[in-house]
Amino acid sequence: MIKKCLFPAAGYGTRFLPATKAMPKEMLPILTKPIIQYGVEEAKEAGCEVMGFVTGRGKRALEDHFDISYELEHQIKGTSKEHYLTEIRELINSCIFTYTRQNEMRGLGDAIYKGKSLVGESDAFAVILADDLCVNENGEGVLSQMVKLYNKYRCSVVAIMEVEKKDVDKYGIISGKKIDEDIYMVEKMIEKPGPDEAPTNLAIIGRYILTPDIFELIKDTKPGKNGEIQITDALNEQAKKGMVIAYKFKGKRFDCGSVEGFVEATNYMYEMSK
Ligand code: G1P
Repeated sequence: MIKKCLFPAAGYGTRFLPATKAMPKEMLPILTKPIIQYGVEEAKEAGCEVMGFVTGRGKRALEDHFDISYELEHQIKGTSKEHYLTEIRELINSCIFTYTRQNEMRGLGDAIYKGKSLVGESDAFAVILADDLCVNENGEGVLSQMVKLYNKYRCSVVAIMEVEKKDVDKYGIISGKKIDEDIYMVEKMIEKPGPDEAPTNLAIIGRYILTPDIFELIKDTKPGKNGEIQITDALNEQAKKGMVIAYKFKGKRFDCGSVEGFVEATNYMYEMSK
């Protein structure tokens, strides 16, 4: 079973300035819930109990969000507004929240490495990039679908989707052998290749299940694309040994790291809530 999930959440969210000047981008709301809460709910649904956040300076609101707010609860107790806090209260009570900081922005691989103290080195763990909001209306969440695959293949699992060729340079791209409906045994992974370099249009999105040997591999990974330690490069070493599965998930994914994707997600969720 996958019991722990890491949430890299140190990024500045510059695309949302000035909104993110004093507020973490993970706290931007889609309707009434901050983006990060959707990620935590997805992890919980997949069976995770420990939620580990790799944060940075200016991210304290995340810790406060996943904690009891006595004053607020006292104020609205017994009023018609009490139910607004029921869902988050249940989430807080049913999970353990842990935090560490990435002091310098050295890439996603480095952020995950910093999370080692939160998830330990003995079991596989999940990673959710909350910016990628995933929904599967009336079906299983994306991480939950991936946990099933992990239980079958016992190796790292990445979620993928097809993107337009012109967009391949925004993603980690995989190539591999199709071994089942929507499932590939990854042979190669490249971080943000140019359209001519990209072997396929199968893009990694922000959901991973990683086996703990990834930490040693990250340690040996040199800075790659944009001078950052890339998780894609560390995973590529596992892929060479046939230890990475890529899965075309069922559901929808919104890129909430961009204003367009964020608005799209908001509209979609609003329609769903009616
Ligand atoms: C990260 C990963 C990339 C992946 C993407 C998914 O990139 O490095 O491989 O495709 O997330 O959202 P970022 O979007 O943080 O630049």
